[in-house]
Amino acid sequence: MSAQGPSPTSTEIHAGIEQALAAMRTRFPDRFAAATTEQLLRDENAKILGKKGELTSILSQMGKVPADARKAIGESVNALRREVEAAFEEALKALFQAKRKAELEARPFDLTLPGRVPAQLGHRHPLSIVREEVISIFRGMGFAVHDGPEVELEENNFTKLGFPPDHPAVDMQDSFWTTSNHLLRTHTSNIQARAMSSRTPPMAFIAPGAVYRRDDDVTHSPMFHQLEAFLVDENVSMAHLKGVLAEFAERLYGPGTPVRLRPSYFPFVEPGAEVDIGCVFCKQPDGTRVGCNLCKHTGWIEILGCGMIHPVVFEACGIDPEKFTGFALGMGIERIAMLRYGVPDIRLFFENDPRFLSQF
Ligand code: PHE
Repeated sequence: MSAQGPSPTSTEIHAGIEQALAAMRTRFPDRFAAATTEQLLRDENAKILGKKGELTSILSQMGKVPADARKAIGESVNALRREVEAAFEEALKALFQAKRKAELEARPFDLTLPGRVPAQLGHRHPLSIVREEVISIFRGMGFAVHDGPEVELEENNFTKLGFPPDHPAVDMQDSFWTTSNHLLRTHTSNIQARAMSSRTPPMAFIAPGAVYRRDDDVTHSPMFHQLEAFLVDENVSMAHLKGVLAEFAERLYGPGTPVRLRPSYFPFVEPGAEVDIGCVFCKQPDGTRVGCNLCKHTGWIEILGCGMIHPVVFEACGIDPEKFTGFALGMGIERIAMLRYGVPDIRLFFENDPRFLSQF
């Protein structure tokens, strides 16, 4: 049996509620102030205003209060709720500000810490390295860079350069034709035709770029790169050509690199020559060459074709061959790179295997 006292009157309940509200009003500021983190603050707030919070449980006794007192209690409760809400927002803001201030004062960045270096850095392709080097050598001698299209007119690729229509290079078998008079340029000599047709001498240009031929084996790729150099002015002679070649060889392959010219034929030069340099692979410390497989035991390696620009080319391009002379030379970038790095197969340049590329 439990002892039950007389149940409280509604007036007593009313007084009790007002008392509880008053107690809560005096305590909540301290409770919020004691919450040192956002979570603690939110927890404290929920204990008061939450669904099962203290204020809610006070409201649950409203039914026992006389109807005429409910309005007054409702107003007190709402007033208190607004006070608690405002105080909560205030405390939250104060917490954020304190946190931000602490962060700023803690000097979170150590500016002396070394950066994180990526495990593997990208780098330039060996063909780009060699091309840039060759370009910079010719720029150093005063040549300007000229650009031009890879899909070219037959006229600029062949006709103006003195190729007869029955020349094997003009054949479907050797070149990639797009339409009957357009093809993928087979050499960068098309830039000679373009520059000479649109300018008057003096001129000194280099023209690097991709070229295309129906060829595919260890030393030939259907797409490869050439670099053309040509100079036109009054009184240009073979001696100027040889001087430029000697300078080029020394700058690319080192001081004292010997150069020799062997007579050769290209339709757009006369005389024409192929240029050899002293083999870079079997060169001895005293400068002599002992012969090796790469130079086929001759001590010489072919690096490019050249010659004096043929008068028929000047005529086709509207330049007076009685007044002007000039020289031209063209080299394969892949070949220069293969010689430079001892790469045995041209296709390695185009496979993009990181094990190959990372060696340069
Ligand atoms: N265009 C020639 C080739 O593709 C190279 C060359 C250029 C030869 C300039 C002479 C003068 O083989």
